[in-house]
Amino acid sequence: MSDSIESVLQENRRFPAPSAAAARMAKWLVPSMSDYKRLHARSISDPEGFWGEVAKELHWFKPWSKVLDWKVPDAKWFVGATTNVCYNCVDRQVEQGHGDMVAIVWEGEPIGSGGRPDIRRLTYNDLKRDVSKFANALKALGVKKGDIVTIYMGMVPEVAIAMLACARIGAAHSVIFGGFSTQAIVDRVLDAKSRTIITCDGAYRRGSVVPLKESVDAAVAQLAQAGHEVKNVIVHSRVGNQTAWHSGRDHSFKDLLLASSDQCPCEHMDSEDMLFLLYTSGSTGKPKGILHTTGGYMVHTYLTSKLTFNLIPDDNQLYWCTADVGWVTGHSYILYGILPNRVPTLMYEGAPNAPKEDRFWDMIARHKVTHFYTAPTAIRAFMKWGDEHPKKHDLSSLRVLGSVGEPINPEAWMWYHETIGSSRCPIVDTWWQTETGGHMITPLPGATTTKPGSCTLPFFGVDAAIVDESGNEQPHNTGGLLVVRKPWPGMLRGVYGDRERFIQTYFTRVPGMYFTGDGARRDADGYFWIMGRVDDVINVSGHRLGTMEVESALVSHDAVVEAAVVGMPHEIKGTGIAAFVTLAPGSEPASPADADKLKNALREHVSKEIGAIAKPDQIRFTPALPKTRSGKIMRRLLRAIASGDAKITQDTTTLEDYTVLAKLRESEEA
Ligand code: WT7
Repeated sequence: MSDSIESVLQENRRFPAPSAAAARMAKWLVPSMSDYKRLHARSISDPEGFWGEVAKELHWFKPWSKVLDWKVPDAKWFVGATTNVCYNCVDRQVEQGHGDMVAIVWEGEPIGSGGRPDIRRLTYNDLKRDVSKFANALKALGVKKGDIVTIYMGMVPEVAIAMLACARIGAAHSVIFGGFSTQAIVDRVLDAKSRTIITCDGAYRRGSVVPLKESVDAAVAQLAQAGHEVKNVIVHSRVGNQTAWHSGRDHSFKDLLLASSDQCPCEHMDSEDMLFLLYTSGSTGKPKGILHTTGGYMVHTYLTSKLTFNLIPDDNQLYWCTADVGWVTGHSYILYGILPNRVPTLMYEGAPNAPKEDRFWDMIARHKVTHFYTAPTAIRAFMKWGDEHPKKHDLSSLRVLGSVGEPINPEAWMWYHETIGSSRCPIVDTWWQTETGGHMITPLPGATTTKPGSCTLPFFGVDAAIVDESGNEQPHNTGGLLVVRKPWPGMLRGVYGDRERFIQTYFTRVPGMYFTGDGARRDADGYFWIMGRVDDVINVSGHRLGTMEVESALVSHDAVVEAAVVGMPHEIKGTGIAAFVTLAPGSEPASPADADKLKNALREHVSKEIGAIAKPDQIRFTPALPKTRSGKIMRRLLRAIASGDAKITQDTTTLEDYTVLAKLRESEEA
C-alpha cells in the first residue's frame, strides 16, 4: 500500500488552504501565505524579538534578562526567568475565571453493560485540586525539586495529574510507555537514578488487561539486585487487579489524594530547570534520556499547538490527539502545549478497534471532536478496515486533521482528506522529533497549500535546511541531510548523563548544526519531503527503535550467536522489522515446525527485553551474516533481501539461501 518513491516524486496534487468558513473554523490565526512568509522572515531575522513576544502570552514569576544565549550546542532560552509549566496549564486558567471549564475529557476503553462508555470530565478547578493534593503527597514521600520520578501508567486522567504534580513541585518526570517491558523499566530507572515510580494496577488494552504493577514489581526486584533502591511505588487502581502489596514501599494513589491538602504553591522554576526526561532509541546502545527544560519547551509547545491546530478558546473546540502520553506527542500535544491554550483535550484509554473498528469515529461523533491528530500507521489500518466504519458516523464536527510520527504516503493522505475530512478539513502533516520538543516543519491550516506526502514548510523560528556532509545547502529536489541551523526554544538540552553522546549524535556529523537523523529533499516551492532515517534507527508504526537495540535483545537469547536487524516495507506499520539470525551450534531447528517454534520463542524474548512493539515481523536463520572485509554487516544487502528486492526474491528463508548472500557478497567485493 505504501506508495513508491517514484509516485511521491511525481506527486503534483495541490490543496490550497480552505477558507475559515469552508473548514468550519471561526477564523484562521495565520490566515494567508503572505502572513506566514512575513512572520517566518521576522522569526528568523529577529528570533529574540519574536519569541520574547510569544512568551509574554504566558505567565512568568520573574521576567528574563535575555531571550537567548547560544553557543553550539548549548541553548539557554529566557535566561534568568522563572515560571512553572503546571501554573500555565492549570492555575492561570483558574485565576482568569475559567476554573469551571473543562480541561480534560477522558473516555475509558471498556463499554459498560448499558452500552455507555465511561467518561470523566475534569475542569481546571478539578485539576488544580487533584494536582495540588498529589503534589503534596509526593513532597510528603520525600520527592524534592530536581528529583526524577518515573511514571509507568495507562491512559487515565491520573497520568496527567501525576505529570502536572511533578512539574508543580519541580521534580522531573520520566514517563515510560506502558507497552515497554520490565527490562526497559530497569534500564530507564537505573539511568535516571529514579527512586519513585508511579504506576497503575493494570491498563485496559483491546479488551484485556496489561499488568503494569507486576512489571514494576519485577523491575524493582531486579533493581534491588543491581544495588538501586526504589523507595516508593504509587499505585493507581484502575482495573481492580490483585497484586502483591509491599507495605512501606507501595502507596495507593487514591489514599494519598484523600490524605493531602489541596493547597500547594507552584515552585518557581528557572527557565532552564529540567522539566522531563523521555527515553528514545538511537543508533547505538541503550535508549537515551532526552532532556527537556522548562521555559523554552513551554513557549514552543504553546505556540505550535495554537498555530498548527488553530486553537481558539471559547470556540466550541474539542481537541483529540490519539497518541499515548508515553511518547513525546502525548507530552507536548495532549498536555503541555494544549492546556495553556484553554481548549479541552480528549484522552482516550484504549485501542482504536475496541470493541469494534469504528471506535474513533463513534467518539468523534459523540464528543463532537473538532481537531483530530493521529499517525499514518493508524490511518493505514483504518483504510484496511474499510470505509463503512467512518461512513456510519457523523464526522461533520471536524475542522482540522493532523498527522505525525512518520511520512504519510499520498494514498493514506488522500483517504484521510476525503473520507475523514470530507475534502473540507485541512491536513497538517507535522514533522518533528522527541528531541525537538515540538513541531518543526508543518503546514498552518489557514495559510499553507498542502501537497499529499509533504510536511511542507518550517514553523516560525525554525531554520531547517537540506545539506551535504559539509553543511552546504543542496539544490532543489536533491536528497540530503535534514538539519536545523539555528536553535529553537523546545530543543533538547542534552542526553541525560552523557554529554559526549549529545554532541556526537546531534552536532558532529554536520559541524555547527543540529543533525536530525533524517534524509529529506526540498522541492522548487521550498516544501520538505522527508525520506526517512539515515542512521540505524527504524520507525515502526511511528515508534522509534534502534536496530542495535533489537539485535542486542536477540543476542541475549541462548540460541543466538549473532543477529542483524533491518527495516523492511510494511503495509500498516510503514516499516517492519526483519531479523537475520545465526544460531548457536546445537540450536539449529530439526524441522520447519521446530524453526517456527524457535522463531516464536525469539519474538517473545524480544518482547520481554524491550516490548511488544519491537517483535520482529520476519526472522530468517542463516549460517553466517554477509560482512565486508572489515567485518561490517552489509545492511544494505540485508535490507534488499528483507524487502524482497526483485533480483533476490527466491525463497530466502531457508538455509541454502546463504549461498545467495555469499554470491552477492562476492560480487559486492569484487
Ligand atoms: C522521527 C522522530 C514526532 C513525534 C513522534 C515521533 C519521523 C516524525 C514525521 C512526519 C515524516 C516523521 C522522522 C523523525 N517523523 N514525524 N510528519 N513526516 N517523518 O517522534 O519517536 O522522536 O521520531 O519520526 O523520521 O526523525 P520520534
